[in-house]
Amino acid sequence: MSKRSIVKELLKSTVYDVDVLVKGWVRTRRGNKSVQFIALNDGSTVHSIQIVVDLNTISEEALKEVTTGSCIAVNGKLIKSMGKGQTVEIQAKDLTVYGTADADEYPLQKKGHSLEFLREIAYLRPRTNTFGCIFRLRHAMSFAIHKYFNDKGFFYFHTPIITGSDCEGAGAMFRVTTLEMEKLPRGEDGKIDYSQDFFGKETSLTVSGQLEGELGALALGGIYTFGPTFRAENSNTPRHLAEFWMIEPEVAFNDITDNMDLAEDFLKFLIKYALENCMDDLNFLADMYDKELIERLNFVINNEFKRLTYTEGVEILEKSGEKFEYPVKWGVDLQSEHERYLVEKHFKKPVILTNYPKDIKAFYMKQNDDGKTVKAMDVLFPRIGEIIGGSEREADYNKLKARIEEMNLPMKDLWWYLNTRKYGSAPHSGFGLGFERLMLFITGMGNIRDVIPFPRTPKTAEF
Ligand code: 4AD
Ligand code: MG
Repeated sequence: MSKRSIVKELLKSTVYDVDVLVKGWVRTRRGNKSVQFIALNDGSTVHSIQIVVDLNTISEEALKEVTTGSCIAVNGKLIKSMGKGQTVEIQAKDLTVYGTADADEYPLQKKGHSLEFLREIAYLRPRTNTFGCIFRLRHAMSFAIHKYFNDKGFFYFHTPIITGSDCEGAGAMFRVTTLEMEKLPRGEDGKIDYSQDFFGKETSLTVSGQLEGELGALALGGIYTFGPTFRAENSNTPRHLAEFWMIEPEVAFNDITDNMDLAEDFLKFLIKYALENCMDDLNFLADMYDKELIERLNFVINNEFKRLTYTEGVEILEKSGEKFEYPVKWGVDLQSEHERYLVEKHFKKPVILTNYPKDIKAFYMKQNDDGKTVKAMDVLFPRIGEIIGGSEREADYNKLKARIEEMNLPMKDLWWYLNTRKYGSAPHSGFGLGFERLMLFITGMGNIRDVIPFPRTPKTAEF
């Protein structure tokens, strides 16, 4: 036996009495003086496989180091299990310990740690059943995203992570520099001389791939980006990360209605994919944390999203009689409490709000004839609030130029973007889905720090 079997496959096996080799981490070991049972997990599934050790075959001494958290390899016979809770088990013939985990020290010795504690040991938490489920789901959703767009003929377009402009205005940016902080070169005016920096100019980590994504859409038709995004705001909430992943489709010739249709279809596809392919992990999370998870996921795929304008939304909020922490009136940016009121209390389903006041939205959104609003759209989800933000883009050169000037944005950074409206401009639309916001919804977890392996938030970047 030299090739290792994957536990997920073995658990489905209907062939018995064959020799197998498995490798993984010990979840528990229990038993008596004549027989011991090891629950072995190799990460392929939330389910562990049971290893039965006859102490006449393998000595108690050899089992000493087989403690919770240790890593072992087992050769043995796959047999039909008589026990409850599993269909197969492995009768061990020999056992190798790859790595021990001192029972007095190993932080995951016991079950039932709080999510807060596990966040402090993020370097080990993938070893828990909970985070195994979450990270397998994260993989499945990434795959489903590529599948969705690939099947629809979109192209995965790679936009830069280091950017020379902050045109989006989506949030504070992290600087990228090779200048020495203690010895910053300065010009005669006392200002930092960025011409001596690596790129010869000020650079930062991107807050969005959209502007470059639009260049792709205006050549390839339909593109999407899927990459890391960085925002340096100091927002310590369960829904914000300083480093998160965003999916940004951008489509030539789509108007705002096409954009809404795409967003709704895309989200429903992803949720359906999880329900069809990841039930083991979803069931575990539902049992442990959120009894209504599966029902909520099904509800979203089976109902049409409610579409209304920002103005209509604000009217509903004003008439609601609800006491909001942030008062609401036409013109204000909606807070998560407002968004969740509309979704959870009023419509009781996902909502797409459109036509926001132009003053609270980005410069590139298509202006409506009323002179006050733009063709923006936000998709609002139960428990999450905003999960998607997007718009139809301003395709008219003069209108876009006027808006850039009106908002005092630096033309030196935006000239190339503006030029796309000079050369073969086309109506087009797109949106951004926050990947971790999606993962919050899919997993039912309450804190965004628990749906990404290594969360980056203010004052946290240890591992
Ligand atoms: O609404 P946002 O800022 O939109 C954009 O960045 C546009 N360029 C998108 C586009 O039209 N192509 O961000 C899009 C989504 C939000 O709806 C939210 O789901 C997520 O990104 N998001 C965050 N997720 C985690 N942490 C943060 N700090 C986030 N900020 C935004
Ligand atoms: Mg937004």
